[in-house]
Amino acid sequence: MALLNVEDHRRRARRLLPRLVFDYVDGGAEDERCLQRNRDALEQLPLIPECLRDTSAMDIGIELFGRRWRAPFAVAPIGLAGLVRPGADALLAGAAQSAGVPFILSTASNVRIEDVRAAAPEAALWMQLYVMGERAIAERIVKRARAAGFEALVLTVDVPVSGLRERDLRHGFRVPMRLTPGTLLDMARHPTWLARLAGSGMPLFANLLPDDDDAPMSAQTQAALLSRTMDRTLTWDSIAWLRRLWDGPLLIKGLLGAEDARRALHHGADGIVVSNHGGRQLDAAPATIGALPAILDAVEGRIPVLVDGGMRRGSDIVKALALGARAALVGRAPVYGLACDGGRGALSVLQLLAQETERTMTLVGVRRVSELGRHHVGLPAPPHPQETPRGKASIYPVHAAA
Ligand SMILES: Cc1cc2nc3c(=O)[nH]c(=O)nc-3n(C[C@H](O)[C@H](O)[C@H](O)COP(=O)(O)O)c2cc1C
Repeated sequence: MALLNVEDHRRRARRLLPRLVFDYVDGGAEDERCLQRNRDALEQLPLIPECLRDTSAMDIGIELFGRRWRAPFAVAPIGLAGLVRPGADALLAGAAQSAGVPFILSTASNVRIEDVRAAAPEAALWMQLYVMGERAIAERIVKRARAAGFEALVLTVDVPVSGLRERDLRHGFRVPMRLTPGTLLDMARHPTWLARLAGSGMPLFANLLPDDDDAPMSAQTQAALLSRTMDRTLTWDSIAWLRRLWDGPLLIKGLLGAEDARRALHHGADGIVVSNHGGRQLDAAPATIGALPAILDAVEGRIPVLVDGGMRRGSDIVKALALGARAALVGRAPVYGLACDGGRGALSVLQLLAQETERTMTLVGVRRVSELGRHHVGLPAPPHPQETPRGKASIYPVHAAA
């Protein structure tokens, strides 16, 4: 079957990966309402085209923090991607480099910061930061990212504690691992995946391993990361601490409310990523595309606002840009590509998304991202009546009542 879109890649990934791994990537928290809400909200939002416009010279690129992006999206940070493919972080960074878009490396990556840089020497690399109990670990990561020429720091703030991912729990996918007989059988049924894993060993949290010039991480810190025990004393006042460590662009990822956006401005953030962690944290969180306008209004254009969650088509990205986001992040989409065909598969997905973005912009009647505006976005359509029994309720109460 030809892989024509992200969903095709997702379906193939589901076949190629053991269920435990696929579910780790694909799943969300609790009842997965937030996961679904991200998609529903995007689907319900129509684009209003302007016709008879000269679109003979298209350019979907943008410029942000002094860098030109060939397409208006970046690859979101994905922890433990090495479960999908050994070397995943380097492969994703290489794909992002080829596509001309930034790559955000997770603190919980399985390839070391320096090795990701070596794999993608020309890429715009950003570092995602989790701050765990022992703050020295974050300090070391920031220092290493700077030395490796990472261009921006993305502080993720929506994980004071890990979301309850019930798919993972059912598979016994937790720390320490307690795999069920069913899961072991499932792995055995995916010999190619298993052989790759056997060849490279279980993925490690590479940025926490002892380094030549770094003091070894304490067992406690490693355990903290494994169980995602974050520093819950981290507050807005801690941004000043980060500022002293990092003088480049500092973005806050995981905001959903206008008040928090104002706080981010007040504390000197250089950018915001509107995100609900792809529906993996607070299941009651709003759809990101629905949360975006209030945040944009609060920020009043003073810093760039990016958004992620549920982007599966170029048209999803165009909707976000039309509402006023400077760029989107894509998380699972390139990982499905990675599962299908390694770095090549990830690049295919990024290229598909770029092509879809260009086609959608052409159909909407704009040649540049800067020509997109809120007038291109219509009122959210009510969900199709046949879809409501499956719980596909509108996120927009005014229409749900209709
Ligand atoms: C498997 C997986 C691992 C993730 N790991 C991280 C992470 O380590 N740090 C982080 O800030 N966000 C992480 N995220 C969230 C993504 O960066 C991003 O916000 C989200 O995936 C966007 O939604 P999408 O997957 O629908 O595009 C992860 C998401 C997934 C699916």
